[in-house]
Amino acid sequence: MSAAALRRRVGILISGRGSNMASLIAAATDPTYPAEIALVLSNRPDAAGLARAAEAGIATAIVEHRGFADRDSFDAAMEERLAAHDVEIVCLAGFMRILSAPFVDRWRGRMLNIHPSLLPAFKGLDPHGQALAAGVRIHGCTVHFVVPELDSGPIVAQAAVPVRPGDTVDRLAARVLAEEHRLYPEGLALVASGRARLEGDRTVFG
Ligand code: GRF
Repeated sequence: MSAAALRRRVGILISGRGSNMASLIAAATDPTYPAEIALVLSNRPDAAGLARAAEAGIATAIVEHRGFADRDSFDAAMEERLAAHDVEIVCLAGFMRILSAPFVDRWRGRMLNIHPSLLPAFKGLDPHGQALAAGVRIHGCTVHFVVPELDSGPIVAQAAVPVRPGDTVDRLAARVLAEEHRLYPEGLALVASGRARLEGDRTVFG
């Protein structure tokens, strides 16, 4: 079997600029990378990442949440797009909608997110502001499996950055984002290759 046949098909869900999406697309241009990007799906038609994906020759889809009566029908529309592209692994990359529990359960062990903090610290919004307010000296980012509780899934990979005297939210966010772009492809590779997998509520490696 060729290496290409072993590549898992990935769908990336975005809402905005898509810089993490771009780092995953770039990683997957290496034919030995264990995943290929099959679809980029946005809930916002104006997401800048859509144009970046299209430029890279990736299929794109828009599922606008405002067009649906409830979360279940929105999720069903997303499922339909993911199935149409034979997606096997979902990566959330700045996707700003809460997913329904049934959707999350269906993708359990096959859906990743990146959060810009060293989880379990600083879940939710404004993690960089939270880190500065707490006065931590080390901050970072985390790739984790998605579970229904926000930013709480089993950890796949983490990277740390220093907090420097005089840091602002923007400076700290930029330092973390550079690490996110390195870490997310590494985390996805671990999962796509089977070197990291969800067993019960733990990530098992090796
Ligand atoms: C990143 O900081 C990511 O960690 C968080 O949302 C931001 C998305 O940025 N979940 P981008 O759209 O990938 O540039």
